[in-house]
Amino acid sequence: LPEDLFRNQGIERKNSMGANLANDNELRVLAEQLNAAFENAGKHGWRAAPLVPGAMVTTPAANVANPADRRQIVGQWQPADAGAVEKALQNAVAAQPAWDRTPAASRATILEYAADLLQARMPGFMALCVKEAGKTIPDSVAEVREAVDFLRYYAAQARASFGAPEKLPGPTGESNELQLHGRGVFVCISPWNFPLAIFLGQVGAALAAGNSVIAKPAEQTNLIGHAAVKLLHEAGVPENVLQFVPGDGAIVGAALTRDPRVAGVAFTGSTDTARAINRALAGRESGPIATLIAETGGQNAFIADSSALPEQLVKDAIGSAFTSAGQRCSAARVLFVQDDIADKVMTMLAGAMDELRIGDPALLSTDVGPVIDDDALKILEDHAARMAAEARLIRQAPTSEAASHGSFFAPRAWELQSLDQLHREVFGPALHVIRWKAEQLDQVIDAINATGYGLTLGVHSRIDETIERIAARVKVGNVYVNRNQIGAVVGVQPFGGQGLSGTGPKAGGPHYLPRFATEKTVTVNT
Ligand code: SER
Repeated sequence: LPEDLFRNQGIERKNSMGANLANDNELRVLAEQLNAAFENAGKHGWRAAPLVPGAMVTTPAANVANPADRRQIVGQWQPADAGAVEKALQNAVAAQPAWDRTPAASRATILEYAADLLQARMPGFMALCVKEAGKTIPDSVAEVREAVDFLRYYAAQARASFGAPEKLPGPTGESNELQLHGRGVFVCISPWNFPLAIFLGQVGAALAAGNSVIAKPAEQTNLIGHAAVKLLHEAGVPENVLQFVPGDGAIVGAALTRDPRVAGVAFTGSTDTARAINRALAGRESGPIATLIAETGGQNAFIADSSALPEQLVKDAIGSAFTSAGQRCSAARVLFVQDDIADKVMTMLAGAMDELRIGDPALLSTDVGPVIDDDALKILEDHAARMAAEARLIRQAPTSEAASHGSFFAPRAWELQSLDQLHREVFGPALHVIRWKAEQLDQVIDAINATGYGLTLGVHSRIDETIERIAARVKVGNVYVNRNQIGAVVGVQPFGGQGLSGTGPKAGGPHYLPRFATEKTVTVNT
């Protein structure tokens, strides 16, 4: 791997929720630059439209509102129509063989150049993350850095594994080699919560492996996806090899995933949508048996025993539950705390929540920004109404006047009696606390496994046996001990779950890229 791969992790301090920040001064400069980038977008803001060579798209454009202040229109986007979807598929099929024949080192060089461009244009991309996705400034810094890391990581892997065929042993007079090739046309369907990092992670991997790519971002973050695709084109990815096809998942996403010309789909989003894509791929009467790489949700737990340090536990629980307004699939949803320290932890949790600053994500002082849209807000409000009847409110963080025009949900923590009270993942700043007694540790682990989800787990304990017992028994993809449970670093904590949480392989890990490839053994009788 390149030596500078992790230079993006140049961390100098942490914010009040433990998120990694650059130093204050660097952040202030970035904040000023991102505001300038927003002003430069002009009176009508940013624009996103399909990027499909040869397609004439005449669908009407829709406004994009700032989640922090819905009165502010930050751009327009235009969905692809059926003609653009068909043209994109034709272009992708025609373009893929030449891209696959392009040496892996050349594909890697293009992705590395894109990473350099992205890093150089960080404020512009941060501005998009803040204004379209409602991300705070520290989250936007982390978002761009993670996207850069994904591009460099997959480029390095493509060089290493796809560069030259692997020579295999054989009898005298015979040569054997194993080659890796792109599968064909890959459709990448990415989420709004990591609109740049996951978007470019999927697309970068699919391109690095030699596939042509049709990228369909979440409907909420088309502006960011459009800017990312333009950047890859500028870096040298041919326009027929990477196409941008925005649109409604139920229309455009469905049309792409049922098409027999598609060889694989990379999807990050809800478990229900992953199932629908799986059904669509399986229901095709012709075409290849398609690959599905899905990263979905979680019902992530955090287990603390009585040896946990309450101050650190509360800091890490708050960071894990409320960073990014809880809109991370890795976020802590349920804190299981041993009864000996439970009252103290809940009191401290309530005090710490009083200190959270909720408001405009464009301000450096903000800890928690808006949720993505009013639909997400409604689901959270409905959950809060149910909790009001069924659970004890530990604390609701204060909101400010500034939050009145956006999709804001004040972070909340409730005490529950049992995990059965949570029917599904609650995607937002909502934490649930459950007490347990020393003899119930196995029951706690069984209850977590019984949800069927298996993404992240946090453990706070100073007892090695307890840590080992939990880590060995729990069925999750990422276990974090005595720290927060979010913010997996590319190449350091490969990220992804099992069961209802996804198919694997893990993003940012060594087994991700090969899943985008097909293998060919060539045997020659010399
Ligand atoms: N990769 C993110 C994290 O680790 C979640 O998608 O927080």
